[in-house]
Amino acid sequence: MIATTSVDLNAKIPNNVGLADDPKLQRALEKWLPNYLEWWHDMGPTDFEDKPVFLRTAISVERGGWANYAHVRMPDYRWGIFLEPNKTDPTIKCGDDAGAPAWQDVPGEHRNALRRIIVTQADTEPASVEQQRLLGHMAPSLYDLRNLFQVNVEEGRHLWAMVYLLHKYFGRDGRDEADELLLRRSGDEDKPRILGAFNQPCDHWLSFFAFTMFTDRDGKYQLAALAESGFDPLARTTRFMLTEEAHHLFVGETGLGRIIQRSAELQKIDSNGDVRAQGGIDFDLIQRTINYWYTYSLDLFGGEISSNASTFFASGLKGRFREDNYEDHKAIEGMYRMPVVESGKLTEQDVPMRNAMNEVLRDSYVKDCERALGKWNKLLEEAGSPTRLTLPSRRFHRHQGIYAGQFFTPGGELISEDQYRASEDKWLLVPEDNDYLVSLMKPVYEPGKFANWIAAPRKGIDGQPIDFEYVRMD
Ligand SMILES: [Fe+2]
Ligand SMILES: [Fe+2]
Repeated sequence: MIATTSVDLNAKIPNNVGLADDPKLQRALEKWLPNYLEWWHDMGPTDFEDKPVFLRTAISVERGGWANYAHVRMPDYRWGIFLEPNKTDPTIKCGDDAGAPAWQDVPGEHRNALRRIIVTQADTEPASVEQQRLLGHMAPSLYDLRNLFQVNVEEGRHLWAMVYLLHKYFGRDGRDEADELLLRRSGDEDKPRILGAFNQPCDHWLSFFAFTMFTDRDGKYQLAALAESGFDPLARTTRFMLTEEAHHLFVGETGLGRIIQRSAELQKIDSNGDVRAQGGIDFDLIQRTINYWYTYSLDLFGGEISSNASTFFASGLKGRFREDNYEDHKAIEGMYRMPVVESGKLTEQDVPMRNAMNEVLRDSYVKDCERALGKWNKLLEEAGSPTRLTLPSRRFHRHQGIYAGQFFTPGGELISEDQYRASEDKWLLVPEDNDYLVSLMKPVYEPGKFANWIAAPRKGIDGQPIDFEYVRMD
Protein backbone atom coordinates (compact mmCIF):
# COMPACT_ATOMS: atom_id res chain seq x y z
CA MET A 1 0.00 0.00 0.00
CA ILE A 2 1.18 3.50 -0.81
CA ALA A 3 1.48 5.87 2.12
CA THR A 4 -0.84 8.84 2.14
CA THR A 5 0.02 12.28 3.42
CA SER A 6 -2.76 12.32 5.99
CA VAL A 7 -1.37 11.83 9.44
CA ASP A 8 -3.29 9.91 12.07
CA LEU A 9 -2.23 11.74 15.22
CA ASN A 10 -4.80 10.28 17.57
CA ALA A 11 -3.64 6.74 17.04
CA LYS A 12 -1.57 5.10 19.74
CA ILE A 13 1.26 5.26 17.21
CA PRO A 14 0.97 8.47 15.14
CA ASN A 15 1.58 7.61 11.49
CA ASN A 16 0.97 8.42 7.85
CA VAL A 17 1.25 4.82 6.69
CA GLY A 18 -2.40 3.86 7.19
CA LEU A 19 -1.68 1.69 10.20
CA ALA A 20 -5.40 1.55 11.11
CA ASP A 21 -6.03 -0.33 7.84
CA ASP A 22 -3.55 -3.04 8.71
CA PRO A 23 -4.75 -4.45 12.07
CA LYS A 24 -2.18 -7.25 12.17
CA LEU A 25 0.75 -4.88 11.75
CA GLN A 26 -0.84 -2.40 14.15
CA ARG A 27 -1.18 -5.08 16.82
CA ALA A 28 2.42 -6.19 16.35
CA LEU A 29 3.73 -2.63 16.69
CA GLU A 30 1.47 -1.92 19.67
CA LYS A 31 3.00 -4.96 21.30
CA TRP A 32 6.49 -3.61 20.62
CA LEU A 33 5.55 -0.15 22.01
CA PRO A 34 5.67 -0.97 25.77
CA ASN A 35 9.00 -2.75 25.27
CA TYR A 36 10.31 0.35 23.57
CA LEU A 37 9.09 2.57 26.42
CA GLU A 38 10.73 0.25 28.93
CA TRP A 39 13.99 0.50 26.99
CA TRP A 40 13.63 4.30 26.91
CA HIS A 41 13.04 4.38 30.66
CA ASP A 42 16.05 2.12 31.36
CA MET A 43 18.50 3.39 28.75
CA GLY A 44 17.27 6.86 27.72
CA PRO A 45 18.32 10.12 29.42
CA THR A 46 18.55 9.61 33.18
CA ASP A 47 16.57 11.61 35.71
CA PHE A 48 14.85 14.10 33.44
CA GLU A 49 11.67 12.16 32.74
CA ASP A 50 9.44 14.58 34.68
CA LYS A 51 10.89 17.78 33.15
CA PRO A 52 8.95 19.47 30.33
CA VAL A 53 11.30 20.00 27.37
CA PHE A 54 10.70 22.38 24.46
CA LEU A 55 10.61 19.73 21.75
CA ARG A 56 9.50 19.61 18.16
CA THR A 57 7.25 16.78 17.15
CA ALA A 58 6.31 15.75 13.64
CA ILE A 59 2.62 16.39 13.03
CA SER A 60 2.62 16.47 9.23
CA VAL A 61 5.06 15.45 6.54
CA GLU A 62 4.40 18.49 4.38
CA ARG A 63 7.24 20.90 3.85
CA GLY A 64 7.66 23.10 6.94
CA GLY A 65 4.66 21.56 8.66
CA TRP A 66 6.34 18.65 10.29
CA ALA A 67 7.89 20.47 13.23
CA ASN A 68 5.50 21.45 16.00
CA TYR A 69 7.10 22.96 19.12
CA ALA A 70 5.78 22.57 22.68
CA HIS A 71 6.95 21.68 26.19
CA VAL A 72 6.65 17.90 26.48
CA ARG A 73 7.90 15.37 28.99
CA MET A 74 10.11 12.94 27.10
CA PRO A 75 8.22 9.73 27.98
CA ASP A 76 5.08 11.44 26.57
CA TYR A 77 6.79 12.25 23.28
CA ARG A 78 4.68 11.10 20.31
CA TRP A 79 7.05 8.78 18.49
CA GLY A 80 5.50 8.16 15.12
CA ILE A 81 5.98 6.50 11.75
CA PHE A 82 6.32 8.91 8.86
CA LEU A 83 7.23 8.34 5.25
CA GLU A 84 7.82 11.09 2.75
CA PRO A 85 4.82 11.16 0.41
CA ASN A 86 5.23 9.71 -3.03
CA LYS A 87 5.15 12.30 -5.76
CA THR A 88 5.90 10.51 -9.00
CA ASP A 89 6.30 6.93 -10.13
CA PRO A 90 9.49 6.04 -8.31
CA THR A 91 12.24 4.22 -10.17
CA ILE A 92 15.35 2.29 -9.25
CA LYS A 93 18.06 4.93 -9.15
CA CYS A 94 21.24 3.00 -9.79
CA GLY A 95 22.81 -0.29 -10.80
CA ASP A 96 21.89 -2.84 -13.44
CA ASP A 97 18.17 -2.00 -13.39
CA ALA A 98 18.45 1.79 -13.11
CA GLY A 99 15.28 3.36 -14.52
CA ALA A 100 13.02 0.35 -13.87
CA PRO A 101 10.05 0.80 -11.49
CA ALA A 102 11.06 0.79 -7.81
CA TRP A 103 9.97 -2.11 -5.60
CA GLN A 104 7.02 -1.62 -3.29
CA ASP A 105 7.79 -4.95 -1.68
CA VAL A 106 11.03 -6.70 -0.84
CA PRO A 107 12.35 -8.72 -3.80
CA GLY A 108 13.11 -12.27 -2.62
CA GLU A 109 16.68 -12.21 -3.93
CA HIS A 110 17.50 -9.04 -1.95
CA ARG A 111 15.68 -9.94 1.24
CA ASN A 112 18.73 -10.82 3.34
CA ALA A 113 20.82 -7.90 2.14
CA LEU A 114 18.00 -5.42 2.76
CA ARG A 115 17.28 -6.78 6.20
CA ARG A 116 20.97 -6.48 7.09
CA ILE A 117 21.11 -2.89 5.81
CA ILE A 118 18.00 -1.90 7.77
CA VAL A 119 19.06 -3.65 11.00
CA THR A 120 22.51 -2.06 10.85
CA GLN A 121 21.02 1.41 10.40
CA ALA A 122 18.38 0.75 13.06
CA ASP A 123 20.95 -0.39 15.62
CA THR A 124 22.77 2.95 15.56
CA GLU A 125 19.65 4.86 16.67
CA PRO A 126 19.12 3.41 20.17
CA ALA A 127 22.90 3.04 20.54
CA SER A 128 23.48 6.79 20.40
CA VAL A 129 20.72 7.42 22.95
CA GLU A 130 22.48 4.98 25.29
CA GLN A 131 25.85 6.66 24.71
CA GLN A 132 24.40 10.06 25.62
CA ARG A 133 22.22 9.12 28.58
CA LEU A 134 24.28 10.79 31.33
CA LEU A 135 25.07 14.05 29.54
CA GLY A 136 22.07 15.96 30.92
CA HIS A 137 23.87 16.08 34.28
CA MET A 138 26.65 18.28 32.89
CA ALA A 139 24.78 20.35 30.31
CA PRO A 140 26.37 23.77 29.66
CA SER A 141 22.93 25.46 29.40
CA LEU A 142 19.21 24.82 29.13
CA TYR A 143 19.47 25.55 25.42
CA ASP A 144 22.02 22.76 25.01
CA LEU A 145 20.12 20.43 27.32
CA ARG A 146 17.07 20.84 25.12
CA ASN A 147 19.09 20.13 21.99
CA LEU A 148 20.48 16.96 23.54
CA PHE A 149 17.00 15.72 24.36
CA GLN A 150 15.69 16.68 20.93
CA VAL A 151 18.41 14.58 19.34
CA ASN A 152 17.62 11.72 21.75
CA VAL A 153 13.87 11.59 21.06
CA GLU A 154 14.46 11.80 17.32
CA GLU A 155 16.95 8.93 17.42
CA GLY A 156 14.15 7.08 19.17
CA ARG A 157 11.84 7.98 16.30
CA HIS A 158 14.43 6.78 13.80
CA LEU A 159 14.36 3.45 15.56
CA TRP A 160 10.58 3.44 15.09
CA ALA A 161 11.04 4.19 11.40
CA MET A 162 13.30 1.18 10.91
CA VAL A 163 11.23 -1.10 13.14
CA TYR A 164 8.16 -0.29 11.04
CA LEU A 165 10.00 -1.55 7.93
CA LEU A 166 11.15 -4.70 9.74
CA HIS A 167 7.65 -5.47 10.99
CA LYS A 168 5.86 -4.68 7.79
CA TYR A 169 8.15 -6.26 5.21
CA PHE A 170 10.20 -8.97 6.89
CA GLY A 171 7.65 -11.14 8.74
CA ARG A 172 8.81 -13.23 11.65
CA ASP A 173 12.51 -12.48 11.04
CA GLY A 174 11.77 -8.78 11.07
CA ARG A 175 9.89 -8.98 14.37
CA ASP A 176 12.76 -10.91 15.94
CA GLU A 177 15.24 -8.32 14.72
CA ALA A 178 13.03 -5.54 16.15
CA ASP A 179 13.08 -7.25 19.54
CA GLU A 180 16.85 -7.63 19.46
CA LEU A 181 17.29 -3.93 18.78
CA LEU A 182 16.03 -3.33 22.31
CA LEU A 183 18.33 -5.95 23.82
CA ARG A 184 21.78 -4.94 22.56
CA ARG A 185 23.54 -2.25 24.60
CA SER A 186 26.19 0.27 23.62
CA GLY A 187 29.59 -0.77 24.96
CA ASP A 188 28.31 -4.02 26.45
CA GLU A 189 30.85 -6.83 26.31
CA ASP A 190 28.35 -9.61 25.71
CA LYS A 191 25.75 -7.90 23.55
CA PRO A 192 27.33 -4.78 22.05
CA ARG A 193 25.83 -2.60 19.35
CA ILE A 194 26.79 -3.65 15.82
CA LEU A 195 29.17 -0.85 14.79
CA GLY A 196 32.36 0.27 16.53
CA ALA A 197 31.71 4.00 16.92
CA PHE A 198 28.43 3.20 18.64
CA ASN A 199 30.20 1.32 21.39
CA GLN A 200 32.63 4.14 22.22
CA PRO A 201 31.91 6.07 25.41
CA CYS A 202 30.57 9.60 25.01
CA ASP A 203 31.49 10.86 28.48
CA HIS A 204 31.17 14.62 28.12
CA TRP A 205 29.88 17.38 25.87
CA LEU A 206 33.05 17.74 23.82
CA SER A 207 32.50 14.15 22.70
CA PHE A 208 28.76 14.75 22.31
CA PHE A 209 29.33 17.64 19.92
CA ALA A 210 32.05 15.71 18.06
CA PHE A 211 29.72 12.71 17.87
CA THR A 212 26.82 14.73 16.44
CA MET A 213 29.23 16.53 14.11
CA PHE A 214 31.08 13.48 12.78
CA THR A 215 29.13 10.33 13.62
CA ASP A 216 25.64 11.68 12.94
CA ARG A 217 27.13 13.04 9.73
CA ASP A 218 28.05 9.52 8.71
CA GLY A 219 24.37 8.80 9.40
CA LYS A 220 23.40 11.57 7.01
CA TYR A 221 25.42 10.00 4.19
CA GLN A 222 24.18 6.48 4.91
CA LEU A 223 20.59 7.73 4.96
CA ALA A 224 21.21 9.71 1.77
CA ALA A 225 22.54 6.55 0.08
CA LEU A 226 19.45 4.63 1.25
CA ALA A 227 17.21 7.48 0.10
CA GLU A 228 18.32 6.36 -3.40
CA SER A 229 17.27 2.77 -2.74
CA GLY A 230 15.14 0.87 -5.23
CA PHE A 231 13.13 -0.41 -2.25
CA ASP A 232 10.74 2.53 -2.22
CA PRO A 233 9.46 2.34 1.39
CA LEU A 234 13.08 2.49 2.60
CA ALA A 235 13.85 5.44 0.32
CA ARG A 236 10.85 7.42 1.58
CA THR A 237 11.49 6.57 5.23
CA THR A 238 15.10 7.70 5.08
CA ARG A 239 14.19 10.90 3.22
CA PHE A 240 12.00 11.92 6.12
CA MET A 241 14.70 10.93 8.62
CA LEU A 242 17.13 13.25 6.83
CA THR A 243 14.99 16.27 7.69
CA GLU A 244 15.43 15.42 11.37
CA GLU A 245 19.10 14.52 10.99
CA ALA A 246 19.88 18.03 9.77
CA HIS A 247 19.21 19.37 13.27
CA HIS A 248 21.56 16.81 14.85
CA LEU A 249 24.33 17.97 12.52
CA PHE A 250 23.54 21.58 13.36
CA VAL A 251 23.89 20.78 17.07
CA GLY A 252 27.30 19.16 16.51
CA GLU A 253 28.76 21.69 14.10
CA THR A 254 27.62 24.79 16.00
CA GLY A 255 28.42 23.17 19.36
CA LEU A 256 32.06 22.61 18.38
CA GLY A 257 32.08 26.04 16.75
CA ARG A 258 30.93 27.66 20.00
CA ILE A 259 33.61 25.83 21.99
CA ILE A 260 36.27 26.91 19.47
CA GLN A 261 35.04 30.50 19.64
CA ARG A 262 35.12 30.50 23.44
CA SER A 263 38.57 28.91 23.55
CA ALA A 264 39.84 31.62 21.19
CA GLU A 265 38.45 34.26 23.57
CA LEU A 266 40.10 32.62 26.59
CA GLN A 267 43.37 32.23 24.66
CA LYS A 268 43.33 36.00 24.13
CA ILE A 269 42.46 36.83 27.74
CA ASP A 270 45.25 34.72 29.23
CA SER A 271 48.67 36.36 29.24
CA ASN A 272 50.30 33.07 28.20
CA GLY A 273 47.52 32.12 25.79
CA ASP A 274 46.75 29.23 28.13
CA VAL A 275 43.11 28.29 27.57
CA ARG A 276 43.08 25.67 30.30
CA ALA A 277 44.35 28.18 32.87
CA GLN A 278 41.17 30.15 32.13
CA GLY A 279 38.94 27.11 32.67
CA GLY A 280 38.43 26.41 28.99
CA ILE A 281 39.09 23.59 26.57
CA ASP A 282 42.53 23.91 24.97
CA PHE A 283 42.95 23.48 21.24
CA ASP A 284 45.17 20.39 21.49
CA LEU A 285 42.35 18.66 23.29
CA ILE A 286 39.83 19.82 20.69
CA GLN A 287 42.14 18.54 17.93
CA ARG A 288 42.53 15.14 19.66
CA THR A 289 38.75 14.91 19.92
CA ILE A 290 38.32 15.69 16.24
CA ASN A 291 40.94 13.04 15.40
CA TYR A 292 39.20 10.47 17.56
CA TRP A 293 35.57 10.83 16.44
CA TYR A 294 36.28 11.66 12.81
CA THR A 295 38.31 8.49 12.32
CA TYR A 296 35.84 6.25 14.15
CA SER A 297 33.17 7.75 11.90
CA LEU A 298 35.22 7.08 8.76
CA ASP A 299 35.13 3.39 9.70
CA LEU A 300 31.34 3.41 9.47
CA PHE A 301 31.47 3.69 5.69
CA GLY A 302 32.92 0.17 5.45
CA GLY A 303 35.85 -1.22 3.48
CA GLU A 304 37.50 0.84 0.74
CA ILE A 305 37.42 -2.14 -1.61
CA SER A 306 34.16 -3.96 -1.03
CA SER A 307 32.24 -6.61 -2.95
CA ASN A 308 29.23 -5.94 -0.71
CA ALA A 309 29.24 -2.30 -1.73
CA SER A 310 29.43 -3.41 -5.35
CA THR A 311 26.46 -5.76 -4.92
CA PHE A 312 24.36 -3.17 -3.09
CA PHE A 313 24.97 -0.65 -5.86
CA ALA A 314 24.56 -3.13 -8.73
CA SER A 315 21.23 -4.37 -7.37
CA GLY A 316 19.93 -0.84 -6.70
CA LEU A 317 19.71 -1.24 -2.93
CA LYS A 318 21.99 1.68 -2.10
CA GLY A 319 23.04 4.61 -4.29
CA ARG A 320 25.62 7.36 -4.06
CA PHE A 321 25.13 10.72 -2.36
CA ARG A 322 22.68 12.59 -4.60
CA GLU A 323 22.66 9.91 -7.30
CA ASP A 324 20.78 12.31 -9.60
CA ASN A 325 23.92 14.44 -9.91
CA TYR A 326 25.80 11.57 -11.55
CA GLU A 327 25.41 10.97 -15.27
CA ASP A 328 26.17 7.28 -15.37
CA HIS A 329 23.98 5.35 -12.93
CA LYS A 330 25.39 1.95 -13.79
CA ALA A 331 29.08 2.60 -13.10
CA ILE A 332 30.17 -0.58 -14.87
CA GLU A 333 33.15 1.17 -16.37
CA GLY A 334 35.69 3.39 -14.70
CA MET A 335 38.25 2.92 -12.00
CA TYR A 336 38.88 4.53 -8.65
CA ARG A 337 42.54 5.13 -7.82
CA MET A 338 43.30 4.78 -4.12
CA PRO A 339 46.36 4.60 -1.87
CA VAL A 340 47.04 1.08 -0.58
CA VAL A 341 49.79 -0.52 1.46
CA GLU A 342 51.81 -3.10 -0.48
CA SER A 343 54.82 -4.92 1.00
CA GLY A 344 55.21 -2.30 3.68
CA LYS A 345 54.98 0.65 1.31
CA LEU A 346 52.28 3.11 0.41
CA THR A 347 51.42 2.86 -3.29
CA GLU A 348 48.33 3.29 -5.47
CA GLN A 349 45.86 0.86 -6.94
CA ASP A 350 43.03 1.10 -9.47
CA VAL A 351 39.82 -0.40 -8.16
CA PRO A 352 36.71 -1.05 -10.31
CA MET A 353 34.27 1.76 -9.55
CA ARG A 354 31.49 -0.43 -8.16
CA ASN A 355 33.89 -1.99 -5.66
CA ALA A 356 34.89 1.49 -4.53
CA MET A 357 31.37 2.71 -3.74
CA ASN A 358 32.04 2.95 0.00
CA GLU A 359 35.00 5.18 -0.79
CA VAL A 360 32.93 7.30 -3.16
CA LEU A 361 30.41 7.91 -0.37
CA ARG A 362 33.26 8.56 2.08
CA ASP A 363 34.59 11.20 -0.33
CA SER A 364 31.31 13.10 -0.10
CA TYR A 365 31.51 12.91 3.68
CA VAL A 366 35.13 14.04 3.87
CA LYS A 367 34.35 17.04 1.67
CA ASP A 368 31.51 18.02 4.00
CA CYS A 369 33.79 17.73 7.05
CA GLU A 370 36.46 19.82 5.32
CA ARG A 371 33.85 22.52 4.76
CA ALA A 372 33.11 22.65 8.50
CA LEU A 373 36.83 22.76 9.38
CA GLY A 374 37.22 25.68 6.98
CA LYS A 375 34.43 27.50 8.78
CA TRP A 376 36.00 26.94 12.20
CA ASN A 377 39.39 28.08 11.00
CA LYS A 378 37.84 31.23 9.59
CA LEU A 379 36.28 31.79 13.00
CA LEU A 380 39.72 31.42 14.60
CA GLU A 381 41.24 33.81 12.12
CA GLU A 382 38.56 36.41 12.80
CA ALA A 383 39.06 36.00 16.54
CA GLY A 384 42.76 36.79 16.06
CA SER A 385 43.88 33.32 17.16
CA PRO A 386 47.07 31.83 15.67
CA THR A 387 45.61 28.30 16.04
CA ARG A 388 44.27 26.25 13.11
CA LEU A 389 42.49 22.90 13.31
CA THR A 390 42.87 20.07 10.80
CA LEU A 391 41.22 16.83 9.75
CA PRO A 392 43.55 13.85 10.02
CA SER A 393 44.27 11.63 7.02
CA ARG A 394 41.63 9.03 6.34
CA ARG A 395 44.30 6.37 6.88
CA PHE A 396 44.97 7.41 10.47
CA HIS A 397 43.53 5.39 13.41
CA ARG A 398 41.35 3.06 11.38
CA HIS A 399 39.70 -0.15 12.55
CA GLN A 400 37.89 -1.10 9.34
CA GLY A 401 39.02 -1.41 5.74
CA ILE A 402 42.41 -1.60 4.07
CA TYR A 403 44.20 0.71 6.51
CA ALA A 404 43.15 -1.20 9.63
CA GLY A 405 46.08 -2.99 11.26
CA GLN A 406 48.53 -0.51 9.68
CA PHE A 407 49.94 2.51 11.45
CA PHE A 408 49.84 6.05 10.15
CA THR A 409 50.49 9.54 11.46
CA PRO A 410 47.55 12.00 11.40
CA GLY A 411 49.25 13.34 8.26
CA GLY A 412 48.85 9.92 6.60
CA GLU A 413 52.48 8.79 6.67
CA LEU A 414 53.05 5.06 7.16
CA ILE A 415 54.98 4.39 10.39
CA SER A 416 55.88 1.45 12.61
CA GLU A 417 53.65 0.33 15.45
CA ASP A 418 56.31 1.45 17.98
CA GLN A 419 56.39 4.94 16.51
CA TYR A 420 52.61 5.04 16.57
CA ARG A 421 52.33 3.87 20.18
CA ALA A 422 54.90 6.45 21.26
CA SER A 423 52.75 9.31 19.97
CA GLU A 424 49.23 7.93 20.27
CA ASP A 425 48.33 9.97 23.35
CA LYS A 426 49.33 13.19 21.58
CA TRP A 427 46.94 12.38 18.74
CA LEU A 428 43.87 10.89 20.36
CA LEU A 429 41.60 11.37 23.36
CA VAL A 430 43.05 9.63 26.41
CA PRO A 431 41.44 8.85 29.80
CA GLU A 432 43.13 11.90 31.43
CA ASP A 433 41.40 14.12 28.86
CA ASN A 434 38.06 12.65 29.81
CA ASP A 435 38.82 13.17 33.51
CA TYR A 436 39.64 16.81 32.86
CA LEU A 437 36.53 17.40 30.77
CA VAL A 438 34.24 15.68 33.26
CA SER A 439 35.70 17.80 36.07
CA LEU A 440 35.19 20.94 33.98
CA MET A 441 31.60 20.29 33.03
CA LYS A 442 29.33 21.38 35.85
CA PRO A 443 25.68 21.74 34.86
CA VAL A 444 24.27 25.21 34.16
CA TYR A 445 20.48 25.18 34.44
CA GLU A 446 19.76 28.91 34.73
CA PRO A 447 17.94 30.29 31.65
CA GLY A 448 20.27 32.36 29.46
CA LYS A 449 23.45 31.32 31.32
CA PHE A 450 26.25 29.30 29.70
CA ALA A 451 29.21 27.37 31.06
CA ASN A 452 32.53 29.20 30.87
CA TRP A 453 33.96 26.79 28.26
CA ILE A 454 31.39 27.48 25.55
CA ALA A 455 30.06 30.60 23.80
CA ALA A 456 26.33 31.34 23.66
CA PRO A 457 24.59 30.49 20.37
CA ARG A 458 23.65 33.28 17.98
CA LYS A 459 19.94 32.62 18.31
CA GLY A 460 17.46 30.42 20.11
CA ILE A 461 15.26 27.58 18.92
CA ASP A 462 12.10 28.26 16.88
CA GLY A 463 12.41 32.02 17.27
CA GLN A 464 12.59 31.87 21.07
CA PRO A 465 15.13 34.06 22.90
CA ILE A 466 18.34 32.52 24.18
CA ASP A 467 17.21 32.94 27.80
CA PHE A 468 13.99 31.02 27.14
CA GLU A 469 13.21 28.21 29.58
CA TYR A 470 14.01 25.42 27.12
CA VAL A 471 13.73 22.82 29.87
CA ARG A 472 11.54 23.49 32.93
CA MET A 473 13.58 22.29 35.84
CA ASP A 474 11.10 22.82 38.72
FE1 LIG B 1 19.21 8.84 13.64
FE1 LIG C 1 21.06 11.66 14.37
